[in-house]
Amino acid sequence: MSEWDSKIDAARNFISANLPVLPVPSIPEIRLHKAGPQSGLWRLAEQDQEFGSPYWAHYWGGGLVLARYLLDRPDAVVGRRVLDLGAGSGIVGIAAAKAGATEVVAVDVDPYAVAAMALNAAVNDVTILPVLADLTKGEPPAADIVCVGDLFYEAALAEHVTAFLYRCLQQGIEILIGDPWRAHLPRSRLRLLAEYAVPDFGDASGGSRPSGVFAFEGDPPQQSRGG
Ligand SMILES: C[S@@+](CC[C@H](N)C(=O)[O-])C[C@H]1O[C@@H](n2cnc3c(N)ncnc32)[C@H](O)[C@@H]1O
Repeated sequence: MSEWDSKIDAARNFISANLPVLPVPSIPEIRLHKAGPQSGLWRLAEQDQEFGSPYWAHYWGGGLVLARYLLDRPDAVVGRRVLDLGAGSGIVGIAAAKAGATEVVAVDVDPYAVAAMALNAAVNDVTILPVLADLTKGEPPAADIVCVGDLFYEAALAEHVTAFLYRCLQQGIEILIGDPWRAHLPRSRLRLLAEYAVPDFGDASGGSRPSGVFAFEGDPPQQSRGG
C-alpha cells in the first residue's frame, strides 16, 4: 500500500468513527459526514504534518448553491460526464450523480477530501470516482461539464483555476460555478443562472447569504507579448 493509500485509509476510519452523518442545510436530499465539536480533528493534525485545512469536513456556500441547482435542474447534467473540481466533501459530485450524470469524477488535492468524498458517496448511495490530483496545471479532462464549488477563495488559486477553465471551454466543455460572491471570482466572465440564500462556512451569524450559480463563458484573455 502506498503512503497516500494508507493515509486515505486511516482518514476513512477516523471520519467514520468521529464525524457524524447529518442532513445538509438547504439540501435535505444529501447527507454528509460533518465535523462537530466532538470530532477532534486536531488529532488528525497531530499525526500528520501535512494535514491542511479540513475543507472537506464543512459546508461551503459555493458547493451548497451548486448542489441545490443541480438537484433542481437535473437537465444540466443528466446523461453527461461530470468533473467536480475541488470536490472537498464531494457534495457537488454527489448532487450531479443523484441528478442523473452518467459518470462523476471528483478531484481534490487533499487526501483527506478523497477519503471523505468516498464515504459520503456511499452514505448517499451514489457512485463517484474520487481522484487525488491537481488538474488545474494540466490538460482539460474527458468530461462534458466541469462543476466548480467554491474554489475562488485565494488569488493565486483563482488565477490557476480560471486559466484551466478557459482551456476546458476551448475544448467545448461546459462550466458551472457555485460561489458566494468571493473576492477572486472572475465576475466579468460569468453569467448568473440562479441565486439562492445558503449558509457559508465561517459565517458566525449562522444565517444565510445570497450565493450564485454561474456559467463561465467568454473568450480567453489575450496572452501578453514579450517578457
Ligand atoms: C472551499 S473548499 C470547497 C469544497 C467543495 N467544492 C464544496 O463546495 O463544499 C475548496 C476545495 O478545493 C480543494 N482544492 C484547492 N486547490 C485545488 C486544486 N488545485 N485542485 C483541486 N482541488 C483543490 C481544497 O482541498 C478544498 O477541498
